[in-house]
Amino acid sequence: MRLNGLVGGTLGGRLVRWLACLSLGVLGCLCLGVYVSVKSNIEAQQASRLDKSAAAIVHLFEKTQRHQQPGALAHDLEDLLRVNRDLHLKLLDERGDALFISSPDAWPAEGRTYTFNFSAEPRRKDYVAAVLVLDTAPDQAILDRLALILWIAALIGSAAIALGGYFIVFLGLAPVRALAEQTRNLAIRSLDGRLETEGIPAELQVLVDQFNALLDRLEKAYQQLEGFNADVAHELRTPLANIIASSELALRGKERDECLRDCIGSNLEEMRRLSGIVDDMLFLSLADRGAKARRAPVQSLAGMCAEVADYYEAVLTESGLQWTVEGDGAGCFDSALLKRALSNLLNNAARHAERGSTVAIRIAQEAGGQIRLSVANRGEPIHPGSLPHIFNRFFRVDASRSQGSQNHGLGLAIVSAIARMHDGEPFAKSENGETEIGVRLRP
Ligand SMILES: Nc1ncnc2c1ncn2[C@@H]1O[C@H](COP(=O)(O)OP(=O)(O)OP(=O)(O)O)[C@@H](O)[C@H]1O
Ligand SMILES: [Mg+2]
Repeated sequence: MRLNGLVGGTLGGRLVRWLACLSLGVLGCLCLGVYVSVKSNIEAQQASRLDKSAAAIVHLFEKTQRHQQPGALAHDLEDLLRVNRDLHLKLLDERGDALFISSPDAWPAEGRTYTFNFSAEPRRKDYVAAVLVLDTAPDQAILDRLALILWIAALIGSAAIALGGYFIVFLGLAPVRALAEQTRNLAIRSLDGRLETEGIPAELQVLVDQFNALLDRLEKAYQQLEGFNADVAHELRTPLANIIASSELALRGKERDECLRDCIGSNLEEMRRLSGIVDDMLFLSLADRGAKARRAPVQSLAGMCAEVADYYEAVLTESGLQWTVEGDGAGCFDSALLKRALSNLLNNAARHAERGSTVAIRIAQEAGGQIRLSVANRGEPIHPGSLPHIFNRFFRVDASRSQGSQNHGLGLAIVSAIARMHDGEPFAKSENGETEIGVRLRP
């Protein structure tokens, strides 16, 4: 059977084809059952008639033998066979030659044969055996007609079931057609449209919910993308404007070499900042595309953290801060990425910590086998409303973006990306005057 024909096409067509095949199979089996049962009944009747007729013939033989009535046998046999016209009889002698044939001209070509011997005593002269044949042609004709009727009934029945099934499927699929129509209309409207959930069958409810959830995510991603574009433009505009303005100024005036050098120096600084933003954005897009950390065994995370903190010693001391490393851990990590994440966290802590306080780098083993690496500092807490957004790109708690700002709001987005690249996630809490920001990593 070619399954392609059964499974291709529309859902309705597919169901109807399967229904037609199933009903044809079931009805075919039923009809076959009826046919076989009728046939076996007819055969049982034929066997019983042959048995009874053979017994009657034996009885006739015994009777004529007992009463010594030689002419009576032929007469009685004729009577018997006249009543049963479909029965034919042959009497055979010892050599197997036929001594008596009931109807030589109408001897049936096909039939059910029953052969029996006469008992030795008392036996009627030369008759040794008898062949009784029942003409089965009429019964066979009835069976053939029955088979034809049953086949036609099965075909018409399955066609009727398929047709009924088609209408049922057509009605049943009405909600699917309505959904398709709704989806078509959605495509024309903006991203804020959603599929109606009222009156939807339970089977489709999950699909509709998933689809609506997908649209939610899409809309959010689209909005983020729009905001991201605006942020990128904003971040690039200021340094570019600075470069253009200072270059124009330098070209217009009759500056001395020294002034020109100053101009080029400040332009270079701006361009380095631009290059830093572009590098950060490239790194984030790499992480978005699913790049994974290149892991290698790290024996002591505490050692690695101390290395980074040492590097930041000057910055921390300048802010009047001390630092400590609490706890330790080991595992396979991308140490370059972890150092980058820690640098960003320490950089933030140095900017936001209270003067004279201690910045704590914490390493802890979590219950699920994850490693928690965080930086905590005392200082102005982050507003609870801002906390969920601090890992977003270009997000800064202080929304006023000063012209000469060195900070672009990409540091924590990179921390979050590094956590994802280690199959982990970032976290942040800010309560009781302490802000702790870090990552959970799968070693
Ligand atoms: N330890 C902290 N204490 C208080 N606020 C913080 C702390 N760390 C981060 N923040 C807030 O979260 C915002 C986002 O931080 P993020 O590091 O992403 O950006 P940034 O530091 O402003 O810029 P960049 O890191 O790109 O130089 C910051 O603007 C800051 O307001
Ligand atoms: Mg930062």
